[in-house]
Formats: sequence, structure tokens, C-alpha cells
Amino acid sequence: MDWKTFEHCLSLSLQSMPEMKQKPGIMVILGSGLSRVMEDWELLQTIGFEEILHHPKSGVVGHPGRYEIRLVEGVPVVFSLGRVHLYEGYSALEVVYGLALWARLGVKNVIITNAAGGIGEYEVGSLVAITDHINHQGTSPLVGCPYPERFVSMIEAYERATWEFLQGEGIPVGVYAGVLGPQYESPAEILALSREGATLVGMSTVQETIMSRYLGLRVCGLSVVTNRAAGLGDHKPDHHAVLRVASQAEQRLKECLLSVVRFWGKE
Ligand code: HPA
Repeated sequence: MDWKTFEHCLSLSLQSMPEMKQKPGIMVILGSGLSRVMEDWELLQTIGFEEILHHPKSGVVGHPGRYEIRLVEGVPVVFSLGRVHLYEGYSALEVVYGLALWARLGVKNVIITNAAGGIGEYEVGSLVAITDHINHQGTSPLVGCPYPERFVSMIEAYERATWEFLQGEGIPVGVYAGVLGPQYESPAEILALSREGATLVGMSTVQETIMSRYLGLRVCGLSVVTNRAAGLGDHKPDHHAVLRVASQAEQRLKECLLSVVRFWGKE
């Protein structure tokens, strides 16, 4: 998909969107195994990916592919349940499609969650606030974006005030290396990523963060450490274990989402 087609499809998608009872200003993108975190918050509306013209469809287990608008302490928040990944064969623009759509509908803030391998000394199951990323995915949604808007700064892409607030709440911080996948890393790759300064590794998030900054959205990145990265622990990274540990961390993630929504409400 090129940028012209992207913009054209987005305007058709917008026309196909159902009427909304309340327009969300915050979007939460839920990662692998994390799609039940919002269940206790009042549901206002569900919109399936397939209801939206030109919206990419997700094919991964644990990614049902729908949006839910829910009230979080009176604040309308749109949850993206499941995302599409580069490793499924989607382009960078398809990966960020939903985000761009919701930004057009008025979203100004995004919480991007993921399951990640821990390179730093994190406990498995812990939550980490992302301070920065390393893009090892070999692409960007801004490839082909018109000049000069394509030259977007990645300094403090993850808003400092937000991760400092979370750090103050006792949540550790880290640098996320985004890789293409879908295979897990080799131990030599993990050693290389560690020397580069990465403390987390995963297969998502960076494309969404880049697009968010292009769109001027405020970003908070949250990783659930589902396993020790390859070569560092006693076990090989395993997809089913990743999903299991992620779902066990949902209560902590839920509390953290609440803290961020409250913090942003105060700003
Ligand atoms: N590597 C890459 N992506 C991941 C991992 C990992 O170890 N764990 C969860 N997502």
C-alpha cells in the first residue's frame, strides 16, 4: 500500500464507521494475550475490524480483531483487541491503519501494550514502561510519506512525563527493541541487542509509535515481560507460554492503564 492509497482507504473507512455514542480521546492497543484486561469497564460499543471498509484483518490466535469503546472512570477509551503484525505479511501502513483511523476520529493519546522478552533483569510477569525504542524491523510507516512531514523526531517519542510518573509508582523502565519475527531471536541476536542498550525485545509497537508521533499523539508504551529473552533463561521462548504469562499479568496491566488514564486526566 502506498501513501496515496492509504489516505484514500482511510477516508472510505471513515465513511463506513458506525455512529459513535461517545468519541474516545484515548486509544489502548492490546498486545498478545492481553485482550481481556478491559472486561470490567462499561462497554459502550463494539466495532469488528471486518465492519470497517479496508481495515486489515488479524489472523493471530489471541488477537480477535475488534474495537471496544469502554468508559474508564467516565472517560471513553477505545481498546484495539488484537493488532496486525509485520510478520503476518502486512505492510507497515497496514500495521498502523487502525491507529491512523482513530486519530482521524479524535484520538489524541495512545497506550501501546505488548508482550516482550526480557533482556534486562526483570522478573517474568512484570510490567515495564518503555522509555525509548530501537527499530530493527527494517521499515517505517513513513516510507513514502510526503516531504517534509516524513522527517519526524523520535526524541522522547514515549512521553517522558508519563513514564517518569509510572517509574514513581514503582514500575521499572526499559528500552524496547522491535524486531520483525516471527521466529524468536537467536542468543547471539539477544547479546547484540543487549550491547545496543535494549532491555526488552518484541515484534510490535515501534511502527505504531512512529506513526503516533507523526500524527502528534501522546504515547505511553507498556511491555509485559512474558519470558527471559533467548539464551538468558532456562527455557526457550514459547508462544503458548508468552500468551499464558501475559494473561496472568492482566490485573497489573489494568491497574497501570487506570493510573495512566488518571494521570492524563490531570494534565
Ligand atoms: N522475543 C520477541 N518477541 C517476544 C518475545 C521474545 O522473547 N516474548 C514475547 N514477545
